[in-house]
Amino acid sequence: MEPKAEITEIVLPNDANILGNILGGKVMHLIDIACAIAAFRHCRKPVVTASIDFLDFKHPIKVGELIIIKASLNRAFNTSMEIGARVLSENLYTGELKHTSSAYLTFVALDENKEKPVPVGEYVPQTGNDIRRWKQAEVRRSHRLSGHKKVSGIK
Ligand SMILES: CC(C)(COP(=O)(O)OP(=O)(O)OC[C@H]1O[C@@H](n2cnc3c(N)ncnc32)[C@H](O)[C@@H]1OP(=O)(O)O)[C@@H](O)C(=O)NCCC(=O)NCCS
Repeated sequence: MEPKAEITEIVLPNDANILGNILGGKVMHLIDIACAIAAFRHCRKPVVTASIDFLDFKHPIKVGELIIIKASLNRAFNTSMEIGARVLSENLYTGELKHTSSAYLTFVALDENKEKPVPVGEYVPQTGNDIRRWKQAEVRRSHRLSGHKKVSGIK
């Protein structure tokens, strides 16, 4: 079984915009935390977020609904790992679930001084679904790294 993490929170007014929907930044925060836990569980070392590919918000999540973040390791590379996050809303009255966002994040493991990247250890996918996500992660990584070189002004 691949390393996973799940966070469930009720959306409260303090996390909402004037329409009563959860703020995008709050969703990103929860995604980052859930994915960091899944990454840490794989390598058992401190991790930092290296990149977030992109994030769509397909449906609003209302105050009083649950936000559920499901994060799982897709692939371990050398010092980095791709974690996939799936965001759901749940209506507590009806139990209706909606898939509201998906995201792919890259985490890098650091040494004990929290300075240099260190190897994360192998992850061997077991199920058909895990193998599919493992293969797709390599394709995304090559797009991510080549795209980053083209568009990033950061040296
Ligand atoms: C992420 C970080 C550790 C990478 O350090 P670096 O010196 O560039 O390291 P390297 O060039 O040796 O790359 C290390 C790994 O990170 C990956 N990586 C680096 N930049 C990346 C990016 N923008 N997207 C995806 N992966 C990236 C590399 O592909 C490599 O992976 P691999 O070993 O599995 O092949 C460093 O840039 C950093 O500390 N960034 C700040 C992280 C942070 O503070 N995050 C919180 C949000 S601000």
